[in-house]
Amino acid sequence: MIEIKGFIFDLDGVIVDTAKYHFLSWVRLADKLGFELNTQVEERLKGISRMDSLNIVLEEGGIEATEDEKIQLAKQKNDWYLESLKDLDDSVVLEGVIPFLESLKAEGIPLAVGSASRNATRILHKLEMQHYFRSIVDGNMVIKTKPDPEVFINAARDLQFREDHCIVFEDSKKGIKAAKTGGFKVIGIGKKDVLTEADTVIEHFLGHNYRSILDLYN
Ligand code: BG6
Ligand code: MG
Repeated sequence: MIEIKGFIFDLDGVIVDTAKYHFLSWVRLADKLGFELNTQVEERLKGISRMDSLNIVLEEGGIEATEDEKIQLAKQKNDWYLESLKDLDDSVVLEGVIPFLESLKAEGIPLAVGSASRNATRILHKLEMQHYFRSIVDGNMVIKTKPDPEVFINAARDLQFREDHCIVFEDSKKGIKAAKTGGFKVIGIGKKDVLTEADTVIEHFLGHNYRSILDLYN
């Protein structure tokens, strides 16, 4: 019987359906820079920091930029991203998430968020969902970003649990790598053929509760 004490959630693409808005903002930036961003790049941009994403986008377009220009371009992308979230409401919360969080709360399981996004805390507060989490570690609070495990290690430290006593939920390959490197259990949210390094993959939280997640390991 495995011992699970805490659950750690990525935000974009796990709790909220914002991954598409991130990508649309990158597409818009590429368009402004004069090239079309291939949709195949979307998977590679998931989970990593804003600057790491920008570097991939620029590389795709064969564009060189100074550090100052990069700061401006990242700001422009973020402004567009925030603009797309200006009417943020419950409709952005992914299917089954609230009942799942409620079921964990009823079991008294301590929860945390570990996200690469510098907007994560703001988004959770705006949705009034911060109360579910004992700890929220976002992109402003780490030095190294995914695939480095720092964000999840800090979340586990806040929960005061060993890494292997926590399950991380992730929708990105880089996030799964980060969790695995840190010694966590990891459940992919999405498609099995994409998230091949996860312990197991579920499509969404709909119909899941604390027991059904533990059953995936037994
Ligand atoms: C991650 C997303 O959660 O956060 C990435 O998967 C995004 O797509 C990254 O680039 C950084 O987000 P932000 O909000 O700080 O630009
Ligand atoms: Mg994600």
